[in-house]
Amino acid sequence: MVEDKVLIKDWLAVAYAGDVADKPVKMTLLNERIVLFRTSEGIKAFKDLCIHRGAPLSYGKVVDDCIVCPYHGWRFDGEGKCVRIPQQPPEQTIPPKAKAIVYPCVERYGIVWVNLDEDAIKKGTPLPFYEEFDDPSFRTVQAAPYVLHAAGPRVVENFLDAGHLAFVHEGLLGDSNFPEIPDYHVHWKENRYVSDEIAIYADADGSGNYATLYYTYEILRPMTARLKKVNYENNQILSMLFTVLPHDERKTTVFALVTRNYALDEPDSYFRDFQQKVIEQDAFIVENQKPEELPLDLQAELHLKADRVSIAYRRWLGELGVTYGSDVTGLR
Ligand code: FES
Ligand code: FE
Repeated sequence: MVEDKVLIKDWLAVAYAGDVADKPVKMTLLNERIVLFRTSEGIKAFKDLCIHRGAPLSYGKVVDDCIVCPYHGWRFDGEGKCVRIPQQPPEQTIPPKAKAIVYPCVERYGIVWVNLDEDAIKKGTPLPFYEEFDDPSFRTVQAAPYVLHAAGPRVVENFLDAGHLAFVHEGLLGDSNFPEIPDYHVHWKENRYVSDEIAIYADADGSGNYATLYYTYEILRPMTARLKKVNYENNQILSMLFTVLPHDERKTTVFALVTRNYALDEPDSYFRDFQQKVIEQDAFIVENQKPEELPLDLQAELHLKADRVSIAYRRWLGELGVTYGSDVTGLR
């Protein structure tokens, strides 16, 4: 496992709920192999390892709300308890040690979130919030999961970076004739960082309609952020929840929700395809940045006033003690 004292106690997005159907789904979270499977009581997340002989449970199948190991057919219920060992008579007691390791797992906003801290639910560790998802005047689209060969903090910081829009996304989101970022500040609000509204001449959704949009960035957690773009001339709002699944130090998957309060009759595929183009453009940068780890020492790279959101992000990772995907050289 990637030993990061913060992320191993955080809710991390691992899949879209709709992608966990009747078969086990395997994935890697912080180098830990995990299997997801659906039961009548919701999605479950186990360590992808059978206690009997170490076979991956994800190669098995789901039967009657249980996951069945592919090797000798041991059956584990949704709580991880072994309820059937085919090699012994049914009346024989199953050893209590015959259990799967269960991780807290919840579905929210159509995303499956897993926490490697087994007490996360008891402790009430909060999930990121995204109220637009439940607001009937908005419509949400899931962008396709996007795999990046980059460390999570570089990927999140890129999402929080207003200055690149006019260059990396020229013609899609930004215009290099209008690259200036007006001064703004970032504030700590309850449990997150929130930027002032930043006026940016931009296109909200690749439709070709440029206007002054007011961007608000929020850093919710080390791997989760959100963004709201408001056009006050027509009251159109486009929001995003952006969350990164850290597979390991150099590989991530991005899950992004794109939510709008306009063009509700437009096909969702338009917004999904648009987001795909945006992230393909970002991939070219984030997969090639050096060092691959985000430098948390603020002396390590140069910063402008326009970079205040990323400065807040780097500082917060350092204060929290995040080490995953981070270069902590120079921090006390
Ligand atoms: Fe899983 Fe034997 S390894 S049942
Ligand atoms: Fe970008």
